[in-house]
Amino acid sequence: MTKFFISAALPYANGPCHLGHLRSTYLPADTFSRFNRMVGNNVLLVCATDEHGTPIAVKADKEGKKPIGIATRYYRKIVEDLESCDIEFDNFSRTTSKKHYKIAQNFFLNMYNKGLIYEKEIKQLYCEYCVKFLPDRYVGGICRFCNSPNARGDHCEVCGRHLELDDLIEPKCLTCGKTPVIRKSKHYFFRLSKFQKEVENFVYNNHTLSNNLRNYLKNWLKEGLKDWILSRDMDWGIPIPLKGAEGKVIYVWVEALIAYISSASQWSDETGISWKDYWNDTVIHFIGKDIIYHHGIFWPAMLDSYGCKNPDNIVVGEYLSLEGRKMSTSKGWVIWVKDFLESFDSDLLRYYLTISAPLNKDTDFSWDDFGRRVNDELADVLGNFLHRTFTFTNKFFDSKIPPLSNLSEEDIKFKSLIEDLPDEIANAISNFKFRDGLIHMFKIVKEGNRYFDYQKPWQAIKEDKQKAANCINLCNQLSKVLAITLKPYLPNRAKDILNILDIKSNNNWDESKIFLTENHEIKKAKPLFRKIDSEELEREKEKLEQTETYIENLDKKKFYDNKGQNNTKEVSKKNIKDKNPKKGEK
Ligand code: 2FM
Ligand code: ZN
Repeated sequence: MTKFFISAALPYANGPCHLGHLRSTYLPADTFSRFNRMVGNNVLLVCATDEHGTPIAVKADKEGKKPIGIATRYYRKIVEDLESCDIEFDNFSRTTSKKHYKIAQNFFLNMYNKGLIYEKEIKQLYCEYCVKFLPDRYVGGICRFCNSPNARGDHCEVCGRHLELDDLIEPKCLTCGKTPVIRKSKHYFFRLSKFQKEVENFVYNNHTLSNNLRNYLKNWLKEGLKDWILSRDMDWGIPIPLKGAEGKVIYVWVEALIAYISSASQWSDETGISWKDYWNDTVIHFIGKDIIYHHGIFWPAMLDSYGCKNPDNIVVGEYLSLEGRKMSTSKGWVIWVKDFLESFDSDLLRYYLTISAPLNKDTDFSWDDFGRRVNDELADVLGNFLHRTFTFTNKFFDSKIPPLSNLSEEDIKFKSLIEDLPDEIANAISNFKFRDGLIHMFKIVKEGNRYFDYQKPWQAIKEDKQKAANCINLCNQLSKVLAITLKPYLPNRAKDILNILDIKSNNNWDESKIFLTENHEIKKAKPLFRKIDSEELEREKEKLEQTETYIENLDKKKFYDNKGQNNTKEVSKKNIKDKNPKKGEK
C-alpha cells in the first residue's frame, strides 16, 4: 500500500477557474487520486489559493480594493468551481492563512540560519511616476532569451523562463506605461548555484520523471544555476522575518511552493494524521507546463536545503487552446468553468478534457468537437450500450440478471475482455495515461455493441433463450465494470449506472472484478447521455464571440474617447492622480 502526497498547483486568487486550469492540473490530479483511493492506497490531495504576489496586487490596484478582498472573492469562486467539477481535495487552504505565514517564515529562517540565504544590495526597477518598485507583473518588456515582447518581470510565457531584472529589455511600468528608473535596494538571495549537483541528481537519477520534463530541465541545468532572489519590495505578502527587512516580503513563488506543506499540515491538525508519512512515501505534483522551472529546479533545491525529500514525480499537463487560438483571460478568449456548467454537466467536461489528447500534448477545445464526442462517443457508444442492456434486462428477464451457461466461443471471448478491462484501465491511470484508460474502455464498449448486435438477443429470446441470457448476463457484467472503472473519470455518471444496477459500491476498484450474481435485480433503465444539438453548439460559439467583443470594447473604451481619439494619456493621468500623494503631502 502506498501513501501518496499529491498536490495540484496553486491557482492565483485573481480570477475564477477556466477550462485550461482544469485540464492541465486539477482534473488529472483528481482522477489519479480517486483511482488510488479505490485501489486501497492512502491519498492526501492538497491545494490552496495563491493569494500574494503581484497578480492579486495588480488586480486590487485596478479595482481600488484591498488585495485580501480580491483574494477572498476568488478563493470562494475557485473553491466553488473546483467543487462543481467534483475535484475532491483533502485540504484546500489559502496562502493568507496564519499557519502558512508561520511555516513559510520558518522555512525561510531555516535556510537563512544555515547560511544558504545572503543579503545583497542590487539595482531594481522603480517607477517614479507610481512611486514604487516594480516587481514581477508590475513591469513588462522584451524577453532577452526569445525576444517575445510580452514578457513580464519574472516570467516569459513564450519561452517559459524565469526572468531576472537584466533579462527584460526596454522595461515599462505596466501601471502607467512609463520607463522605470533603476534604484538600489537590499535583497535576500538563495544560494541556488550551490545546488547544481543536487538538482542534477534529481533530474537525471529520478527515473519516474517523464522524458519531456527531463529534457526541459536539462536545458536549464546546462546553463548553470544562478543564485535566486527571494524577496520583493512590496507590502502585500509574507514579511521577511528578519530585522532590517522591513517593507520586504518573501517572493510569492517561494512561499507558494511551501503551501503544499502548509496545506498538508493544516490537514494534519484537523485529522491528527501525520502528513510527513505521506511525504516520505511518494510525492507527486500535478502542474501546468508554464511552471516546470519552479517545480523542477527551485523546489528540489529548496527541499534539499531544508533537508526534505524531493518529489517522486512531477506530472505536467500541457496547454489547452480554444477554437484553435491561444486562450487569453485578458482578451476574454476563454471558457470559465462556471459558464460551461450553466449549459452542460461536469462529467461531460471531465470526459472531453481527458479524451481530447494525452496530458503531455497540447490540445484544443472546440465546441464542434465537444459536441461530436458527446454525441458519437458518450451517447452513441457508451449510452447506447448501457441503455440497450438495461432495457432488455427489464423487458425480457424481469429486470433480473439471467444465468450464464453453455458459453459459445463469442461469449467466452467477450467474457475475457470484460475480465481484463479493470487491469488495463488501472495500468493506464497508474502511469498517468488517463486518456489511454478511456480509449481502452471505449474499445471494449464498442466490442460490447458489436457482440450485442451479433448475438441478436431480441431474436434469440424466441429461439434460444440461453443464448439471449448469456448475452444479457455478460452485457450487465460489462456495465458493472464500467460503473466502477468510470468512477475516477466521470463520478456522477458512474453513480447513475451503479444506481440502475442497484449496487451499493464501497469504492473499491476490485469490485469491478466481481461478477453480478444470477437473479440480481436491476432497476429501470433510464437514458444516461443526451445528445447535444447543433443549435446548442452555435449558441455557445456565439457566447464566446460576444465575450471577446465585450472585452475588446472595454479595452477600446479605455484608450479612445468618443471622437475615436487616443486618450491614453488622460486615463494614465487620472490613475496617477489617485495614487500619487498631492504636492506637499509627501
Ligand atoms: O502559476 C501559477 O498559477 C502559480 N499560482 C502556481 C503556484 S504553484 C505552487 F507553487 F504551488
Ligand atoms: Zn508607473
